Amino acid sequence: MRIVVIGGGTMGRGIAHRCAAHGLSVEVVDVDEHAAQTAVAGVHASLEIAETRGKLADAASASRLVTPAGSLGEVDANPDAVIEAVIESVDLKHRVLSAAEELEPALLASNTSSISIDQLAAPLSRPERFLGMHFFNPVWAIDLVEVIRGAKTSPGALEAASVIVDRLSMQQAVINDAPGFATSRLGVLVGLEAIRMVEQGVASAADIDTAMRLGYRHPMGPLMLGDLVGLDVRLGIAEHLATVYGDRFEPPTLLRDMVAAGRLGKKSGRGFYDWSTGEPLPVEE
Ligand code: NAI
Repeated sequence: MRIVVIGGGTMGRGIAHRCAAHGLSVEVVDVDEHAAQTAVAGVHASLEIAETRGKLADAASASRLVTPAGSLGEVDANPDAVIEAVIESVDLKHRVLSAAEELEPALLASNTSSISIDQLAAPLSRPERFLGMHFFNPVWAIDLVEVIRGAKTSPGALEAASVIVDRLSMQQAVINDAPGFATSRLGVLVGLEAIRMVEQGVASAADIDTAMRLGYRHPMGPLMLGDLVGLDVRLGIAEHLATVYGDRFEPPTLLRDMVAAGRLGKKSGRGFYDWSTGEPLPVEE
């Protein structure tokens, strides 16, 4: 099976790693030769790490399955799937997906985390072959693919996606196209309510997270998760979903204030936790 991944950033590398680790050959396309080679070097390095940790038997064989391409013109036609993972911009994705159609892939997928699949399908000449395949970071560790069915997605495309999900030893949840799909819509709602609880003095961030981890067996509390995703990213998704679903997604003032103050979570060193040591420490408010 031959997969083409467009965009060799965080997610493109993760998807390429997962494909190669499961024996699928994968071409990583980025803006130019240098970017593509850097991306592939990153995949090779992460495969090595996986072998060191005992999670992969043979990193060298897997690495041979991953090749760089500086443009779509270098890629052979008729791959089994093209998975687009460029940045979250409708215009860019429209351009990239239209160009990818010229390769005549059996399946065309986008890894978008929030944009409507029907909106992305608008310029396509074969929208029936197109759907969303929303992977989660880190792709090597998280076994879910949220498969998003657009209004024109054919049963054949859904079947092709399901075969790939199986080959990657992953599990799918099939969602009809709706803003925020299932994961962002539910996850962000819980996260926003947790922020409102901190704002209202109901409990500390650490106590809310402990309650959800132990009481509901969430692997991580909603506030720590927000710190890891990035509070600015969370705010952006909440603002988008509020325009569609109304007040329940209206970002709390505390979230807006934290983002305005540059308290974005782990990446800025401080959010609901203090990350200055690399580990989350409770913050005294
Ligand atoms: P990123 O910024 O790390 O990577 C984007 C890559 O696309 C870069 O390597 C860039 O050079 C490349 N690129 C830009 N224009 C291109 C073009 N015309 N042709 C080929 N490559 C091009 O972004 P990231 O985080 O990997 O996100 C990619 C997509 O995945 C976005 O739609 C994002 O919303 C989605 N996503 C991100 C998650 C995350 O945790 N970062 C999780 C799930 C989905």
